[in-house]
Amino acid sequence: MQSPQDWKCLMICKNVRSLQAYTPGEQPHDNSVIKLNTNENPYPPSPMVRAALSTFNCERLRLYPDPVCMRVRERIATIHGCSVEQVFVGNGSDEILALCTRAFVEHKGAVGYFEPSYSLYPVLSDIRAARRHPVDLNPDFSWRMPADYAADLFLITNPNAPTSLLHSISTIADFCSEFAGVVVVDEAYVDFADCNCMSLVLAQNNRNTLVMRTLSKSFSLAGLRFGYAVGPVELITALYKIKDSYNMDALALELGLAALNDLEYMRANVERITATRQSLTNALLQRGWRVCESQTNFLFASPPDGDARRVFELLKEHKIYTRYFPGETTGEYLRITVGTGEQCDALLEVI
Ligand SMILES: Cc1ncc(COP(=O)(O)O)c(C=O)c1O
Repeated sequence: MQSPQDWKCLMICKNVRSLQAYTPGEQPHDNSVIKLNTNENPYPPSPMVRAALSTFNCERLRLYPDPVCMRVRERIATIHGCSVEQVFVGNGSDEILALCTRAFVEHKGAVGYFEPSYSLYPVLSDIRAARRHPVDLNPDFSWRMPADYAADLFLITNPNAPTSLLHSISTIADFCSEFAGVVVVDEAYVDFADCNCMSLVLAQNNRNTLVMRTLSKSFSLAGLRFGYAVGPVELITALYKIKDSYNMDALALELGLAALNDLEYMRANVERITATRQSLTNALLQRGWRVCESQTNFLFASPPDGDARRVFELLKEHKIYTRYFPGETTGEYLRITVGTGEQCDALLEVI
């Protein structure tokens, strides 16, 4: 006979029972911690966001929000020169990634992604009970793709995380044109990079590729939960068919719109961060570190003796949080979010 505990277990899907859940970076409650562990922006959101928040009419929360997010989609369409039908808005880009695994992966299909890359991808594949089909990047983290590679969906972070490196747009374009499934180019960090794939997905002949963006990094709005995807109408319509009716709340829509109306502020912050990125890179190189050429708001860097875990722990003792990914390819590196100049100086002092 089965015990009640076994019964409880049987009610949970097999893949969920065996699932290794995603581990988000730590969010300490101690305000004195210097947080360089989750690639947040060290500067506040635009003053226009603050103004929108202070004038937001609470009475509006009585009503459901716009299920198709029309005003923000119009703004995003204007920014990128596309139609509103080509824009999907989601509760953070993580929601859009999850929807893509539901919309574009057949039962028992395969989800592809690079190793190393965003560690949520294999988890989303497992949640969907799909087959993981990772591709190992070269030892220097450059692009590598087997000739006969196939999957239903391929997720590419570009610039990549945690490596901070950019794959060339032409390499991605060639891959997309030959790949039989759907490709999502996750451009979470692209505002800190020299180029992006937007023109690729808006080209007339594109049938299978989406670009995804987030307000969490360059717009300083990780706490708001606002991401979007741009691409062919057929793929965007599929996402709208399966999303929750009200996936974006009224406040996120209002504040997201305010942020998207102040691109200048975002760009000025990006400039500040890329300048600090350069000085932090130089300082680490001077101390004998290996530093990947970052196109993001973080560095992926290895100390002279390769013992990144020790530096990670030492920094943590000094209340400076960074991110360490154990493993054969990543274990010698530390991922360090580019903070303010003062935060980076504090990190250098401990190192
Ligand atoms: C590559 C990548 N994609 C997506 C996300 C999630 O972004 P969002 O906050 O919009 O869900 C992150 C967050 O760190 C990320 O690193």
